[in-house]
Amino acid sequence: MMQKLSSLRLPWPTDWTALFGAERPLVLEIGFGYGQFLQHLARTKPGANIIGLEIANQCLDSAERAIGRKHLTNVRVIQSMAETALHHLFVPDSLSEVHINFPDPWFKKRHGHRRLIQRDTLDVLVSRMQVGATLYLATDIIEYAEMSAELLRDTPGLTNTLPADWANEMPGRVVTKYEGRAQRDGRSCYYFAYQRNDRPAPNVPVIKEIEMTHVVFQSPLNLDEMLARFEGVEQKFGDTIVRLLHGYRGRNVLLFEVYIHEPTIDQHVSFVVSPRETQQEYTIKVGTMGYPRSTPGLQQAVALMAEWVIGLSPDAKMVKHKLGDYVPESLSEEN
Ligand SMILES: C[S@@+](CC[C@H](N)C(=O)[O-])C[C@H]1O[C@@H](n2cnc3c(N)ncnc32)[C@H](O)[C@@H]1O
Repeated sequence: MMQKLSSLRLPWPTDWTALFGAERPLVLEIGFGYGQFLQHLARTKPGANIIGLEIANQCLDSAERAIGRKHLTNVRVIQSMAETALHHLFVPDSLSEVHINFPDPWFKKRHGHRRLIQRDTLDVLVSRMQVGATLYLATDIIEYAEMSAELLRDTPGLTNTLPADWANEMPGRVVTKYEGRAQRDGRSCYYFAYQRNDRPAPNVPVIKEIEMTHVVFQSPLNLDEMLARFEGVEQKFGDTIVRLLHGYRGRNVLLFEVYIHEPTIDQHVSFVVSPRETQQEYTIKVGTMGYPRSTPGLQQAVALMAEWVIGLSPDAKMVKHKLGDYVPESLSEEN
């Protein structure tokens, strides 16, 4: 099977015309589930490039198979959190239509930050919509509808196209899995349709990659001595969380498993510590495993690794680095 398209592998931003082989208006569905609605979009909008975002593997596989079986050539499914795709893949003013059908409600207050409809995500979404583009949202949960109505009302770049906050019917729609379940259980559905007006959108630039990072350091310790003292490290840098999780011994290297959470992207990558030809010198590099993308969080994680490993010995020191703005204070030249 071909490797899935993923926001971790696609170029930031993505050239959609090149990906589809045709320049056509972009229509986006977020969280397409088993993809009935996505296929309907592809069939009914042959003049558009249709993009579906999902995080669930099973949904991605199933939709991909159906698209192949039905020879739908104007649709692509992408493994991505919506937040990552919106910030990294799409440039401002590029989407002509957006659909969100039955987003996960995340009822509990402490899970509220995971909801798709929230201020920050709406801001980036509006910035990516062209003037005249429509955002369609459907939910069967009244609390989600009320919360969305309030947030959408407070979005200057969007104008409601319906006479009320929402409609309870949207004739002509193809019924999604969750919608069908709501109808069978007798629950009401709430449909929203907002159009991008010509008021200025929030300024949310595309987040591009920065220079790949590495560190060279000197230490009297050998690889085994370093590994023996590794206990895992976790640190918060504002909204970014870095976890140096596990260390492993390779033939002439140490390999570390690293998790990095940034507001727009989660990465699970590896760092490699390997000796250089010069005695007592080592390099910390980002391994290719996990397809790492060079973000500020990745630089901060390498800086944290350097700080930890150099901190193991008073005679260890940084030799050179590509850490941008993230040189830890303990390693800066004044120290
Ligand atoms: C309740 S289901 C609805 C599926 C489908 N739209 C329907 O109406 O039957 C929500 C879907 O959104 C996906 N999802 C949840 N959070 C997401 C995110 N941040 N980005 C993209 N997809 C997401 C889930 O994997 C799930 O398939």
